[in-house]
Amino acid sequence: MSKTHKIAILAGDGIGPEVVQEGLRVLAAASDQFDFSYELTDYPYGTDHWLATGGENGGEIFPDEAFAEAQQHDALLLGAIGDPRAPVGLIERGVIGKLRWEGGLYINLRPIKLSAERWCPLKDKTPADVDMVIIRENTEDAYVFPPEFTDKGGPNETASQPMKYTRMGTERVIRYAFEVAMTRPRKQLTLIDKANAVRAQDIYTRVFDEVSKEYPEVKTDHAYIDAACMWMVKNPEWFDTAVTTNLFGDIITDLGAMVQGGMGVAASGNINPGHFSLFEPIHGSMPKATGKNTANPVATVNAVAMMLEHLGENEAAAAIESAVERLLQSDRVKGLKAGVHSTSEWGDMVLAELNAAVNA
Ligand code: IPM
Ligand code: MG
Repeated sequence: MSKTHKIAILAGDGIGPEVVQEGLRVLAAASDQFDFSYELTDYPYGTDHWLATGGENGGEIFPDEAFAEAQQHDALLLGAIGDPRAPVGLIERGVIGKLRWEGGLYINLRPIKLSAERWCPLKDKTPADVDMVIIRENTEDAYVFPPEFTDKGGPNETASQPMKYTRMGTERVIRYAFEVAMTRPRKQLTLIDKANAVRAQDIYTRVFDEVSKEYPEVKTDHAYIDAACMWMVKNPEWFDTAVTTNLFGDIITDLGAMVQGGMGVAASGNINPGHFSLFEPIHGSMPKATGKNTANPVATVNAVAMMLEHLGENEAAAAIESAVERLLQSDRVKGLKAGVHSTSEWGDMVLAELNAAVNA
């Protein structure tokens, strides 16, 4: 029986609305082709809304009532958040941060897959070399605890924000990573940390070791984050599945995005398995490009595919993924960078590919 999915849309700042618009065209086409329907609820939050409702004088960031309501949906598709007209981090933390941390979206799933050799900035690396999934912890670490300043601005100033981990937070992300590794042909899982310098990350070392005993089929290894960055560039083929902390995951997945062809194509899921989850491109809001119809929406289209998979629409998800893959392998695509193809032209090209598959 056809299901109706309740999807919240938070297009956000900058290029967010433009890329989300193309993502929604692809979602509509997928629902025509496959047996599901959906209802959308739009949320206006982001910097414009904050400014329009008072900005520094009590502007709305993400009111608790709307936040609770959004979480009643099956999933949320987010465009981008961040704008230089607001204080650094205020809206990002208040919207994306709130959803991740208070919403319990404890997995940040970031697939890194190269579709064609010509999109890889690394010499002689092919799609066979770049095919991995990075699982980033999403609710702890230096992100979530308030910063502390003493003697602010003074000569003895100190500033701190703890890298703090709980057993529950560590164990659930590591366990999820083992589950993902089990679904992949190579069944290899790398723990990425900096436990030699940040001794608090010993908790990752121990919990990884404990959980690994339950998954004897998974081959495990380990890399410090600095070395992992080096390997990502030098030998990306070494990675299959990797699990890491929130901050390191943030950093290494931007590097991974470049290796797979750039921010234009990299998508992510902020997941609470089996529950309300959020899907988004990993790029930012590109304020200068706002409204210009130059942003590449493929990352958002890929996020829509991840969202459909989460909703159990595996066929639709796979159809979108392979349409994008075929498109990126074709010579119709002249480049992935902003402006080579317009945002709407990208949408047209993905739709054409999706429809061609049905009519084939
Ligand atoms: C990301 C972004 C966010 C993060 C920002 C916007 C706070 O860079 O999703 O990777 O650091 O997590
Ligand atoms: Mg980031």
